[in-house]
Amino acid sequence: MFQPDFATAVDHPTSCQPSRWQDYVVPQDWGHFTPDEHRVWDRLFARQVPYLGARIVSPFLAGIPLLGLDSPGIPELGALNARLTPLSGWELVSVAGIVPDAAFFAMLGERKFPIGNFIRSADSLDYLEEPDCFHDIFGHVPMLGCPAIGRLMEALGRLGVEAIAAGQGDAIARLYWHSVEFGLAREGGDVKILGAGLASSFGEAMHALEADVPRPRFTLRDAANTPYRNDRFQPLYFVADSLEAVAAELEALDLSGLKQLAGPD
Ligand SMILES: [Fe+2]
Repeated sequence: MFQPDFATAVDHPTSCQPSRWQDYVVPQDWGHFTPDEHRVWDRLFARQVPYLGARIVSPFLAGIPLLGLDSPGIPELGALNARLTPLSGWELVSVAGIVPDAAFFAMLGERKFPIGNFIRSADSLDYLEEPDCFHDIFGHVPMLGCPAIGRLMEALGRLGVEAIAAGQGDAIARLYWHSVEFGLAREGGDVKILGAGLASSFGEAMHALEADVPRPRFTLRDAANTPYRNDRFQPLYFVADSLEAVAAELEALDLSGLKQLAGPD
């Protein structure tokens, strides 16, 4: 299956069985990354940052130097956490691959964020079978340093656990997908990239902003009821009124509100 450079841990619902998120954590063992793999990171970073420039919400760009992500090579999670955790309360944990939805949301609810312990190969920079460390770190981590997004992610995690238990996993996955993975947001009058799936994808970042695709205004109801694609570029991209607005809306959502959203108009 071809997938453009996209990713999230919730794009492959695998199980509703309860599981401890801790069971999915593995040592990063940073030394296992080869020089070639570090060069893949550097190539991706060098390609992505100049394109994103003013096309991405400003907290993302601020987060890169703040967290030391502008240093060469795949980051070592201990060093990254030494900057991120005191700043935000978030801790990155290494995982071997996709984490089931329930465990993923449980992690977020405790301000843990899973990082795939591998990177795509040099000859397929735009091909991803599942989220790798470039997507997970470059796409997500700068935004975790933003207080509004940090609160939003934690709130989505707590609600996600409840939602899956209540049979509302599709609705919470769609809200996650259409905001922090593939959402756009207005900033200073311009439409900018918000989501990590776009931030970490050269091709889809350009597509989302420049192609002739629908960009409807983000509303909780529309996002909760709009399916997403995990095998190709999205057919549409929701635009939030602002980063702060989407964060506040999602942070305020509870399970009864989610059930109402997912029900008939
Ligand atoms: Fe993701």
